[in-house]
Amino acid sequence: MDALTAENVSSGYGRSPIVRNVSISVAAGMVTAIVGPNGAGKSTFAKTLAGILRPTTGKITVNNTDITRVAGYLIPRSGLAYVPQNDNVFRTLTVRENLEIGGYASKKDARVRMNEVLDIFPDLSKAQEKKAGNLSGGQQNMLAMARALMAEPTVILLDEPTAGLSPAYTDVVWRQVESIAKSGTAVLVIEQNVERALTHAQFVNVLVAGANHVHGTVAEIAKLDLASIFLGRDHAPDSSSPSTNR
Ligand SMILES: Nc1ncnc2c1ncn2[C@@H]1O[C@H](COP(=O)(O)OP(=O)(O)OP(=O)(O)O)[C@@H](O)[C@H]1O
Ligand SMILES: [Mg+2]
Repeated sequence: MDALTAENVSSGYGRSPIVRNVSISVAAGMVTAIVGPNGAGKSTFAKTLAGILRPTTGKITVNNTDITRVAGYLIPRSGLAYVPQNDNVFRTLTVRENLEIGGYASKKDARVRMNEVLDIFPDLSKAQEKKAGNLSGGQQNMLAMARALMAEPTVILLDEPTAGLSPAYTDVVWRQVESIAKSGTAVLVIEQNVERALTHAQFVNVLVAGANHVHGTVAEIAKLDLASIFLGRDHAPDSSSPSTNR
């Protein structure tokens, strides 16, 4: 069973849709990536999954429960945690306080859960009393992920968790993303760097001009000429796998 599904989801900010009929499925224990050029609609799609934007068409489920019409503030309780790319921590609060806020929807004792989460993020464990605003950019991204995990989500949605980080720190964050998946959580990650997506994910969806152009396993996607696809120069592959959605 897929932890998260979207079927034919369209959405946008005004009248003209940005995201058009995008479908995706995200499995428990796996890393599924969304790649695509700047402006393709990746973040818009993420905001739609997270209930911040209302879809104009389609259906979204978490754990087989329809969340399409669930208000954004109630989405965490349905099992989907969303980590936006920017402004993803409470800067004036400490690391510990940020995690406590994240734990409000947790079924477990917040302290028990905090220890489990901090096991994945040793850097944060050492910085519990620091103000989040004084952490480095990479550490803030880690804190945002950790805060999302406090609620024990079924699926975690990460919008470019390594944007702007050094290669070394990018490695660290990706290792943490992998360990989140290993713990059984379904991970959906938006990634600018195709190479990284192919290295760390199991499934890849390519979003171009608001539509999911192609999706498949890493092995399937690695065979394609993604540069041409990003530039809109290719013709969609035939109906053999990897599957296209045109
Ligand atoms: N708040 C907004 N209001 C109106 N239009 C927006 C808004 N946010 C984004 N857009 C437009 O929607 C389109 C898709 O943007 P989006 O941020 O979803 O792309 P993206 O794939 O995440 O790009 P990037 O890789 O640069 O993060 C762009 O044309 C953008 O200008
Ligand atoms: Mg984006």
